[in-house]
Amino acid sequence: MNWYGRLLASGGLIALAGGSALPAQAQAQGYPTRSITMIVPFAAGGPSDVISRIVTGHMAQTLGQSIIIENVVGAGGTTATARAARAANDGYTLITGHMGTHAASVPLYPKLAYHPEKDFEPVALLAGTPILILARKDFPPKDLKDFVTYVKANVEKINAAHAGIGSVSHVSCQLLNSVLDIKPVGVPFNGTGPAMNALVGGQVDYMCDQIVNAVPQIKGGTIKAYAVATPARNPSLPDVPTTTEAGLPAFQAQAWSAIFAPKGTPPEVIAKLNAAAVKALDDENVRKRLFDLGSVIPATAERTPEALAALVKSEIAKWTSVLKPATN
Ligand code: MLT
Repeated sequence: MNWYGRLLASGGLIALAGGSALPAQAQAQGYPTRSITMIVPFAAGGPSDVISRIVTGHMAQTLGQSIIIENVVGAGGTTATARAARAANDGYTLITGHMGTHAASVPLYPKLAYHPEKDFEPVALLAGTPILILARKDFPPKDLKDFVTYVKANVEKINAAHAGIGSVSHVSCQLLNSVLDIKPVGVPFNGTGPAMNALVGGQVDYMCDQIVNAVPQIKGGTIKAYAVATPARNPSLPDVPTTTEAGLPAFQAQAWSAIFAPKGTPPEVIAKLNAAAVKALDDENVRKRLFDLGSVIPATAERTPEALAALVKSEIAKWTSVLKPATN
């Protein structure tokens, strides 16, 4: 073992006596030696925040360092994502991104301050999140067929909540609205955590949201769920029909959440983070919490950084073919 190895084995000193830092390679071998910041681009309590806290709570145990969640809001998650792209690529600043921040925002923001593929290293996919069509409890339509008729007939009187242009809730309902050929008023929030509060309070009419944010409310009877936009029903909500069963097969939508690091983060760091995320996804308690909220837990082959890179590429292409630069 050379002197580098002995030095690292002694506790991974980062700065040598002369104050010069160890090369990135040596720092990576001791990683992590301090707490990690995980940026969540939306308000606390929403799906991105909930998924991130469930998985990083276990990752912290594996890594032996705390992972501190920092909710940074604005512009549909792109404010936080641009900040993460500029962060030091030392493994101590990460982001929980998703289908909106790391795919749909590309066609919606012509001057986006980052590119999901050029400015980030994929770390690990955390969860798939089917999209539900939700409404306030006293919204008049009783089922999806009625919903379609009602929103077409009352488009100038209704509104749809979302978490900002480029967010999952925004692009999912953009897709739904284009299928229905309607353009209702959009009501933006800093996340679908606060948007859900407004839906429960009856201040907004409907929303397309990720299942993890809706299961507790649906089970509590505080909102309506018309359908889930996936081919099969979700085990956490067996009584909610699919959009196909309910007569709207053209609306299919599923989001996903994943961890990304700034471009240039050392491969050894990415590998340690990926291993910790994979271990979390194999933990029974983590799996139960994600499953009970309707998440689709990634299969082994989907959990590699390479698989996430391929997902991001295909999702950018998909949403670029579907969306035009945002208008509302
Ligand atoms: C959230 O966590 O608030 C959501 O991911 C926002 C969104 O993308 O709809």
